[in-house]
Amino acid sequence: MQNNMKKLKELGHEIHRLEQISALLGWDQETYIPKGAVNDRAEQQSVIQGILHSKITNPELGKVLKDLGADLNSLNVNGNYSDADRALIKNTARIYSKNVKLPKSLVEREAKETSIAQAKWVEARKKSDFSLFSPHLDLILQLQREKADLLGYEDERYDALLDDYEPWMKTKEIVEVFSKFQGKLKSFIDRIVSSKTSIDDSFLYKGYDNEKQKAFGVEILNSMGYSFTRGRLDVSAHPFTTTIGYDDIRITTRYNKNNFKTGIFGIIHEGGHGLYELGFSEEIRGTILAEGTSMGIHESQSRLWENVIGRSKPFWKAFFPKLKAFFPEPLNGVSPDQFYRAVNIVKPSLIRVEADEVTYSMHIIIRFNLERKLLNGELSVDMLPDAWNREYGEYLGIEPENDAEGVLQDIHWSGGMIGYFPTYALGNLYAAQIYDTLKKEVKDLDSELEEGNLKVVLDWLRKHIHRYGSIYNASELCKKVTGETLNPDYFMNYLESKYKQVYDL
Ligand code: CO
Repeated sequence: MQNNMKKLKELGHEIHRLEQISALLGWDQETYIPKGAVNDRAEQQSVIQGILHSKITNPELGKVLKDLGADLNSLNVNGNYSDADRALIKNTARIYSKNVKLPKSLVEREAKETSIAQAKWVEARKKSDFSLFSPHLDLILQLQREKADLLGYEDERYDALLDDYEPWMKTKEIVEVFSKFQGKLKSFIDRIVSSKTSIDDSFLYKGYDNEKQKAFGVEILNSMGYSFTRGRLDVSAHPFTTTIGYDDIRITTRYNKNNFKTGIFGIIHEGGHGLYELGFSEEIRGTILAEGTSMGIHESQSRLWENVIGRSKPFWKAFFPKLKAFFPEPLNGVSPDQFYRAVNIVKPSLIRVEADEVTYSMHIIIRFNLERKLLNGELSVDMLPDAWNREYGEYLGIEPENDAEGVLQDIHWSGGMIGYFPTYALGNLYAAQIYDTLKKEVKDLDSELEEGNLKVVLDWLRKHIHRYGSIYNASELCKKVTGETLNPDYFMNYLESKYKQVYDL
């Protein structure tokens, strides 16, 4: 048993290190790579992915897992183990059994078709013409169905795909949660839209020098407890966080001198992801447990910092004077309260990535419902743009004028990522639920935040969430931290108490 456990850790360690090497190649590609080296990089990544695949499907790994009591079908683990050892066996078994079910030919076909589809999607978006992309989306859906059938599922194909992003969660759980709160969210959005309060946020849209934004962002990151000896902040087209080593967690953002929100809230968001990855305990380092337990939980960490903390009144009480010192000109005559309201303005819009924290989840629920219908054949690709526009009209009260600002705006489907979208909204929900407990457990949280003492938040998150990595799955962790499983009422209550004040409802 001891030897098998040691062997499992060794095999897992190699896999994890290879993933980090691949992440370094990816980070470089998004930041500093010379344009001409793009083909080199694609080949390098493909070599690494090939080695990774053979390591993950190594029959020796399968044997070790079985000897340790793992059932490779049910993924149950028999035997007396610590929580960490059991999770290590179970999570490795999950990855192993998924990978051995997928033939190399399918994986290669998927890589090829998605790379063609992504290029077509870029073109279609530029020309705002869905018909250029639709045959490729059709093909991608067929491949995803094929993949789901090979992987197996309990209730519906979506389960098999969702598992890549939100391990162990079932589609029906999401349906239950989303259907519960979609209606409530819609009425709340309607209430805000029809409120008499109008908020002026014009001062956020000019005169924010990029270098100064970075300096201010670094100050916030330092206060959050992000470590620049174990990380970096760079610029990329789309902000991201990547793990290159246990002591090398890098984040990126993008700056727009005519939109204050883009750079700084991007930094706080990615900083939240980064702190999660920086906070894994020594015990799980070097194993595949040193990962976020699900994308939804990962996103809860970024959203908690970005929205719940970073868009709160006490936070800006501490940081607004500092911000004003950086940007006296655009903020001339602006009060902390005006600024607080401006960064919390709610406006139904067509574009997901620009959405405020109230309407954001609605963009996600719409996408989830549509992609689930596409996958199970209830909705045809031809009918998708109409269905999309109808949903936006019904739930956000606005309709896209063209495909580019409608159905073509996100890259996910072109990359074969069906099942990814719900994790963004789950992040919002988990964040609000976690915050509810945090507020009860951290003494005088608001006064600490008003002093700029963000460390109290990090310390609490480290103790209750970060250190565990993937020892507990999302649902177990949620219950352990908050005392109950995912409950969207926390998010609704959070929104109501905050925006009642912002919009004088
Ligand atoms: Co994120």
